[in-house]
Formats: sequence, structure tokens, C-alpha cells
Amino acid sequence: MTSSDSLLDLAMKMPKTELHLHIEGTFEPEQMFAIAQRNRVALKYDSIDALKAAYQFENLQDFLDLYYQGMSVLLTEQDFYDLTMAYLKRVHEDNVVHVEIFFDPQGHLSRGVSFATQVTGIHNALADAQQQFGMSYRLIMSFLRHLDEASAFETLEQAKPYLEWIDGVGLDSSEVGHPPEKFANVFRACKALGLPVTAHAGEEGPPEYVWQALDVVGVDRIDHGNRALEDEDLIATIKHRGLTLTVCPLSNLKLCVVDTMVEHPIRAMLRLGLKATVNSDDPAYFGGYMNDNYAALVKDTQIGKEELYALACNAFTGSWLAPEDQAPHLATLKEMFAHVR
Ligand code: ADE
Ligand code: ZN
Repeated sequence: MTSSDSLLDLAMKMPKTELHLHIEGTFEPEQMFAIAQRNRVALKYDSIDALKAAYQFENLQDFLDLYYQGMSVLLTEQDFYDLTMAYLKRVHEDNVVHVEIFFDPQGHLSRGVSFATQVTGIHNALADAQQQFGMSYRLIMSFLRHLDEASAFETLEQAKPYLEWIDGVGLDSSEVGHPPEKFANVFRACKALGLPVTAHAGEEGPPEYVWQALDVVGVDRIDHGNRALEDEDLIATIKHRGLTLTVCPLSNLKLCVVDTMVEHPIRAMLRLGLKATVNSDDPAYFGGYMNDNYAALVKDTQIGKEELYALACNAFTGSWLAPEDQAPHLATLKEMFAHVR
């Protein structure tokens, strides 16, 4: 059996892709205070330590309350650029070679920050990181599910001049009480524009919401999906359709979706034949970036080499990269894993 030290080393060094990452969730307290000062806006917390001390969540909503407060200091294109570039630099150190990141336009439009300001800042950072680090990317616009479908439609209208920079559409925010079917029409409109679709489902919401993501929305991917494991037919359907689950171990721990990392269901997902992947969700709030998530799994779940390999490959094959662009990364993974016993 591969020792856990060499498995950890492999996990840290292997090429990775991140498929579930909210750019606003990468807002580190230090940067948040710096940007707040630059924009002369006040934060509710009077120090970085006081803010960090508030990062104790009992559920998704506890976190979201702080997440929306934090993002409220983002005003200019430069702010969005700096936020995105800081994340990309950080995960370049973790050997992340491809990212598919969410942003929440409605969280900024509601404060008077234009779609153009947001998307230009984020896009320019992604393009610069591609130049500087050779990192490829996709940008996913996510609808806030606690708002109504009319607001999602308005957001889609705002996005239309920038569709060249938008590679897909997602659904996030408070899950319970806001089922995917609430957004059936707007997702139909997105699909008609040729946009791939993903949705948070089964993070806190019941298996019924995952069914709706599959059958009403017709998702190409499922974000989280933990509670799908409660329904055997659902597991079989996800498996049959070959859908990727973007699983977020440290997020699940911080938001009490699981009680301990030891009990995390990601290995069970693999055993059931589901295409699980590892992602960080909102790393600034949940205590870890990509490699921290892998490290937690290696240390606490007795994950084996074959499972680690499956997780790493699933992220590339589940990405929206063209197969010919996935291939070199998959070949690197094969080569690296062949050399570790
Ligand atoms: N927005 C940012 N992170 C989220 C999460 N984990 N679930 C739902 N909405 C989110
Ligand atoms: Zn998420």
C-alpha cells in the first residue's frame, strides 16, 4: 500500500482542476480590509481578527450572511481583478492548471456595480493568468436562488453583451425553500443560448432538489450532490448519465453538512460509481484551498492511490475543457501515478 506521506506528496504535486469555486468566496480578510480602505467603505468588523473570529458556521445561511457582507466592498473593475488574480496566484502554487469559477452578478448588481465592471475585472485576471501561468479557465455566471426568476432573467439580459466571456450558468445561495424548478424557464433560455448549466443541489436540500436539477433544469454537472446518496434511484440515474459531482470536503465540514472529515462520503461516492471531484467552494471562509482539501482527505479518510487517481482524473473529464485539452493533463496524471507504488 502506498504510504500516506507519498500519497500526500502526490496529491500536492499532481495537476489539478477546480470546478466549484465562488470567486467572492476567495476574499481573504486581509485583502477585504485593504479594498474596503481603498474604497472608503466601512466593514461591520473593526479588525481582521474580529472578522476571522466570526467564521463559525452552523449551516449554509450563517455563512452566506457573512459572504454577502464581505463582497459588498467590491466596487471597481480593479477590485474584481485583484480578487481574482489573488486566487489564481494562490492556486497556481497548488498546481491547479485549469479553473472553472463562479461569480454572483446579482450580489453586485443590487449594490449598483455594473455587470461590465464585474465581468471585465474577472475576465482580465483570468486572461492574464493564462498568459503568466498557462492556466486555462471557464467563467460561470451563477443565479442567486433566494431571489426570483424575474431577477435571474434581468441578469441574463445584462449578461448578453458579454456572452463571449461567459462559459456557463449556475445556481447558488440558500438552497432549502428554493428548489431548482423555480428557475426552469431561465435555464431553458440559457440553454437556448448554448450555455452549459450546473446547479448547487443536495448540499442541504433534499434528494428531490437533485432530481429537479436533473430532470427540470437538465444540468450538465451537479454542485455538491451529497444528499443524492439518500436515494438509490437517484444514484443510479446520476451514474447512468455520467454526471460529475463537484464535491467540497472542507466546505462540507465548515457548514456542518458532515460532522467529521472521517465520515465524508466522497469515497462512498466513488465506490458507487459516481464521478466525484475535489473542490474548495469558498476557500477564504472554509480554511483551505485545493491542496488543503486533498490533504484533509489523505489524512482523515484513508483514501487510497486508485481513489486519488480517480478524483484527479474526474476533475479533468468533468470539466468543460475540450477532450483534446484534457488529454495532456490526463497523460501527466497517468505518468505520475505510475511512478508511485
Ligand atoms: N455561494 C457561495 N458558496 C455557496 C455554497 N456552498 N452553497 C450555496 N451557495 C453558495
Ligand atoms: Zn458552492
